Amino acid sequence: MKKVEATSPGKIILCGEHAVVYGRPAIAVPVTDVQAQASIKMASTGGFRIIASDLKRDYLLAEAGSDDPLSTIIGMTLAQIKQTAPDVILSVTSTIPLGRGLGSGAAISTSIVRALAAFFEQTLAPAEVSKLVYEVEKLYHGIPSGIDNTVVAFEQPVYFVKGQAIERIEMRQSLTLIIGDTGVVSPTYQAVGDLRRRWQVEPEFYERYFDAIEAIVKQAKVALEQDRLSLSAFGQLMNENQTILKALQLSSPELERLIEAARQAGAMGAKLSGAGWGGNMIALVPPKKEMIEAVTQALFEAGATGVIVTNLD
Ligand code: MEV
Repeated sequence: MKKVEATSPGKIILCGEHAVVYGRPAIAVPVTDVQAQASIKMASTGGFRIIASDLKRDYLLAEAGSDDPLSTIIGMTLAQIKQTAPDVILSVTSTIPLGRGLGSGAAISTSIVRALAAFFEQTLAPAEVSKLVYEVEKLYHGIPSGIDNTVVAFEQPVYFVKGQAIERIEMRQSLTLIIGDTGVVSPTYQAVGDLRRRWQVEPEFYERYFDAIEAIVKQAKVALEQDRLSLSAFGQLMNENQTILKALQLSSPELERLIEAARQAGAMGAKLSGAGWGGNMIALVPPKKEMIEAVTQALFEAGATGVIVTNLD
């Protein structure tokens, strides 16, 4: 019996979130420690059955509501590869926490696109996958910059500017990051929409902050591509970015607690990652076991509901 599987990583934004929606650059990297997985197997189900066990959902594509994100990406992908819905079971699972800035939506969509293409023995280039996923992101996240679908579909560190060809970042040294989860679900469209409303009232005020973020992101790119990356300099850039995100009212007491705890425990820099108001923060740590343990423990003591240690190579 025919069966295919496809996976997709989560992502974090190292710097530049929100400003990226306004045409400034941002740097994002895939996080392979968490992933979404889609498998498709032939079955006499009388249709295309979708099982999303994490969401406790089991339904037929033909019966899905028009606002269902999974059926939307399935429909778009089938149209793109010029196929009709086969009699199969599509199972989707994910270890990426939902609504916490780790790109869970983009990763789930990406794994579905890849699984469908594999099922029909077709190859879709990362740019095609990213474009399809962006269409779904647009439906559910307002006006996304497109950074999430890009980094997840290309599975590479990217220097992303909306509407421009993607630039891969050639990292010369590995970075150890600790991702701390506040446990607070923060849908991206809410924080993005709130900032947009405030920007509409006082555009110049906000544009100045976005310019300051742009300067940080450009320095971060140069730092990442250097042969010898100074962790303290990079951490300082993360801290400066966080100062601006806080001034933009995108942080939260839970995020601030985790960020402060990580810094006190020896992190070289720490900031929120993604939309803010909850979700995850990231901390840069020297690649030493004692340091990783100290920051991890400090994060849990400060209320983190989950911690991921990831090495970016
Ligand atoms: C979300 O991962 C990042 C934001 O900058 C929104 C976007 O880029 O679409 C907050």
